[in-house]
Amino acid sequence: MRVWVWGVFLALMAFAQGTDPREEAKRQKELLLQTAGILPTELVVQQGEELFNRKGPSGKTMAECDFGLGKGVLEGAAARLPRYFLDTGRVEDLDGRIVTCLTRVLGYKPQEVKRQEVVALAFYIASKSTGHKIQVRLLFPEERALYALGEKLFYARSGQRDIGCATCHITYVKRRAGVLPYADVLGEDKSWTHWPAYRYSNDQIWTMQDRIRACYGNIGHPQPNFYSTPILALELFLAYNNNGAVVEEWPAFVR
Ligand code: HEC
Repeated sequence: MRVWVWGVFLALMAFAQGTDPREEAKRQKELLLQTAGILPTELVVQQGEELFNRKGPSGKTMAECDFGLGKGVLEGAAARLPRYFLDTGRVEDLDGRIVTCLTRVLGYKPQEVKRQEVVALAFYIASKSTGHKIQVRLLFPEERALYALGEKLFYARSGQRDIGCATCHITYVKRRAGVLPYADVLGEDKSWTHWPAYRYSNDQIWTMQDRIRACYGNIGHPQPNFYSTPILALELFLAYNNNGAVVEEWPAFVR
């Protein structure tokens, strides 16, 4: 059987057996904490903080960067991304804004930016939004256009199996019952707030970009590149539809 079929199968089995994935994640977290004394999420956040305070070729640190709420302000900033930035004239998400900061402010060349460092920085910056509400807006035409693209991509179907995100991620029952059209995108538990996260099932650190790329991979669709427009568009669409959700813990700890 293909990998994606297995994934869906296992998810359904867990559901049928009543194994709550959240409870299971909590249990795994406790276990790790007991054996290692520290969580992998905390280690990555620490690493991200060190990178944040490291001077780039320009002699500046990331404290000189604006993540949307002003230079060096991190508290709650990640909960308001993606958003349009005047200085780049683009909508940027957390990952993309980190790359902008590393290249434009710290002076690294684009090819010098390491993905693992971007993820560690994303973990650190996101950790400053725990307890904050997701607040993403569509004020600028660029944001509205990207949202429209994300919506299109989410409902588009393609490939040999003719499936797309919505095939697996929309609860049709609710839609028929006439609930707000997108209130149920990716379920009621506000999945936007699950990422960035540490995945204990395969010991990986992922941001939302990794999550979305993996889902494209699962359906045998070519994976859009990191920082590409389709990824960003889907992120904006998902974030907007998760507005108001409170971030329980960033980075999260998931299966
Ligand atoms: C074949 C079914 C399938 C398709 C199609 C699919 N996904 Fe997924 N997706 C899953 C499964 C299963 C999970 C949960 C995986 C896990 O728990 O490890 C998931 C998880 C996710 C999550 C994380 C949800 C959470 O609560 O943490 C996001 C976001 C997501 N998918 C986005 C997408 C997007 C965007 C697309 C379209 C490009 C897509 N998915 C297409 C099956 C699918």
